[in-house]
Amino acid sequence: MTLLKTFIDTYKEQIENTMYEEIENLNAPISLIKAMEYSLRAGGKRIRPILVLATMEAFGRNCQNGLKVAAGLEMIHTYSLIHDDLPSMDDDDLRRGKPTNHKVFGEAQAILAGDALLTHSFYLIATSELTAEQRVNLITELSLSAGAEGMVGGQVADIEGEDMVLTPQELESIHQRKTGRLLEFSVLAGGIMSGADDIQQAKLKEYAKHIGLAFQIRDDILDVEGEEEEIGKPVGSDESRNKSTYPALLGMEGAKQKLSSHLTFAKDALQDLPLQNDYLTLIADMIVQRRS
Ligand code: IPE
Ligand code: IPE
Ligand code: MG
Ligand code: MG
Ligand code: MG
Repeated sequence: MTLLKTFIDTYKEQIENTMYEEIENLNAPISLIKAMEYSLRAGGKRIRPILVLATMEAFGRNCQNGLKVAAGLEMIHTYSLIHDDLPSMDDDDLRRGKPTNHKVFGEAQAILAGDALLTHSFYLIATSELTAEQRVNLITELSLSAGAEGMVGGQVADIEGEDMVLTPQELESIHQRKTGRLLEFSVLAGGIMSGADDIQQAKLKEYAKHIGLAFQIRDDILDVEGEEEEIGKPVGSDESRNKSTYPALLGMEGAKQKLSSHLTFAKDALQDLPLQNDYLTLIADMIVQRRS
């Protein structure tokens, strides 16, 4: 674990510096830059950009080449959180241990800060030092993962599922889109930048699909069992909005079993890949055990 920890600490800092420098240098209204920076600087585990770079490292590639893509992905994720917390969505007051963006800057600025983070992430990919083919592939995959077929579609289904009892399949489809697709993209992006072939990409996708579901199941569990200081957001948010979650549908034990079976499937998917370290396996363990 210590090697992975050093890797994470080193690259977390580089990812963050890349994001901050990028935002500070925008020729944009100061109030907008402040609102964008506020949520980026509020903290966060940075699991998605770490996954991008860990996949590259596991394939023996130079992570520096993936930094801008990793930073862009964290910006999209941060935008999704700002919008997720809005009064018209989950209506939450605390995020990453701080008041939510709209609480500090007002709803209009929060919506626009999210819009700007989303848009700028594509700029970061388009201007990365990668081949033109890699950049187009990344932009194509990210548009699908973050948009109507992916995260945004999942968020809509999540809202429409409030006050309803869903089947396990329906719930899985929501989790897979609202959270799974961006996590899947993280690993796929690492694969694209490592030159992984189609068979290897299919295995990475299988791994990512299971950690994506595991991630949201763990998030749902922490919404019930977590401590506000640790998770940095309100406990009980899902119950108060009558959300469909795994603990609500299967009970806490059922949710935990589901979590552990996704962990096993994720690790199994990695078996035949020519990986040079065990970072992806250890990250899967980290996701399941995390307390925030
Ligand atoms: C929270 O994501 C929202 C979900 C998709 C479950 P994270 O748990 O990655 O939040 P941060 O980035 O660490 O704050
Ligand atoms: C949100 O899921 C997923 C996103 C696309 C942001 P949640 O609503 O469960 O995320 P948290 O618990 O507020 O972080
Ligand atoms: Mg939500
Ligand atoms: Mg929420
Ligand atoms: Mg949640």
